[in-house]
Amino acid sequence: MKILIMGIDGYIGFPLAMRLLNRGHQVYGLDNYITRRRVSKVGSDSALPILSFHERNRRLKRHFGHQIPFFYGDASNPDFVYKVIEKIRPDAVVHLAEQRSAPYSMIGLREANETMVKNITSTMNLIYAIKDIVPEAHILKLGTMGEYGTPNIDIPEGFFEIEYNGRRDVLPFPKNAGSWYHWTKVHDSNNLMFANRVWNLAVTDVMQGVVYGTKTQEIDETGLYTRFDIDEVYGTALNRFTAEAIIDMPLTVYGKGGQTRGFLSLNDSIQCLTLALEKPPKAGEYRVLNQFDEKYSVGQLAEMVQRIFENEYGKRPEIAHLDNPRVEKEEHYYNPEHRKLEEMGYRRTKIIEEEIVDAISDLSKFRDRIYNLRGTLMPKTFWKLSAYN
Ligand SMILES: NC(=O)c1ccc[n+]([C@@H]2O[C@H](COP(=O)([O-])OP(=O)(O)OC[C@H]3O[C@@H](n4cnc5c(N)ncnc54)[C@H](O)[C@@H]3O)[C@@H](O)[C@H]2O)c1
Repeated sequence: MKILIMGIDGYIGFPLAMRLLNRGHQVYGLDNYITRRRVSKVGSDSALPILSFHERNRRLKRHFGHQIPFFYGDASNPDFVYKVIEKIRPDAVVHLAEQRSAPYSMIGLREANETMVKNITSTMNLIYAIKDIVPEAHILKLGTMGEYGTPNIDIPEGFFEIEYNGRRDVLPFPKNAGSWYHWTKVHDSNNLMFANRVWNLAVTDVMQGVVYGTKTQEIDETGLYTRFDIDEVYGTALNRFTAEAIIDMPLTVYGKGGQTRGFLSLNDSIQCLTLALEKPPKAGEYRVLNQFDEKYSVGQLAEMVQRIFENEYGKRPEIAHLDNPRVEKEEHYYNPEHRKLEEMGYRRTKIIEEEIVDAISDLSKFRDRIYNLRGTLMPKTFWKLSAYN
């Protein structure tokens, strides 16, 4: 299959590219390296050192026999997206090329607008380019479980049956995002759903949980790391805890720590995306997949890192509760459904504890590098203080 990965230089894009090469697909890539620049703008860097995309691509040749044809440019530029889609005429496009940090989008109005405009226009450009050039191609779009928020009822996979004033219908489940970033994903989902209704585009909209870890089979084989962010803007809570444990800092839990989310390992995220590509939706279908394995509260994750670190290294990191910089429920019901991927043949390969053990072992090799990034770990982005900057 001819597959274009938009955002191929990113945390998920690069290991996905290697997996798809391993499975014999023709892989193409697009990126403008903006995550590297945004992370450096907030004073940080990937905790695992990563080579330039050019260099990684050169090394892929040793392992897979050829390099990935690569297009440098901004997905929010329609001329660029049209040119790339016209040139490749892909069977499927995986769209990962968006600003993906909730705190970044809450720094102030500039970052909020940048996230809104770039994310929503990149998806619109892709929708139109597919419709005009290869209308039968499959769009695999990365959304987030964060689109749903934390309602006090179960969360279905995209749609649910509802009765109101005696009448019944199957409707999109109401979204209730918790940052401007998460709202861009809701807007993308609405736009994809509408494009499907008007032009019959085949779309998989993946509501992905938090992805964790440093390893896939191909990362092991090639020795080529993918990025791993730990700072308060680009790192997730679990990434931050792992880094904090390694440099003997307390594990910083925001608020009470009852905030609960779905998690899955990097290897299983790549497995899910590969499966969604190899088992595409029917022509004209808009398909929503909730993609996560287990749900944990932030407090449970901190305790898990504490326990694993003590078992492996004989040291027990402290847990510190900080004032929550976000506006979010700190104790809530959380029960999303996630059946469709299993029905498609997905089987989890790794539990989160194993992934934490591996990540700690990888990151420990770069203790000095993490120590130098310690100033980026404490929260500086406060939802309530976001303003015109
Ligand atoms: N990592 C997670 O835990 C997670 C969870 C849920 C959803 N997602 C979504 O999955 C996608 C990929 O996540 P990731 O963690 O790999 O992010 P990432 O930031 O590491 O990768 C995104 C890549 O896209 C590129 N990019 C961004 N905007 C671009 C643009 N306008 N034009 C060209 N290239 C652009 C970046 O340079 C980067 O290489 C994102 O859309 C994210 O919102 C990720």
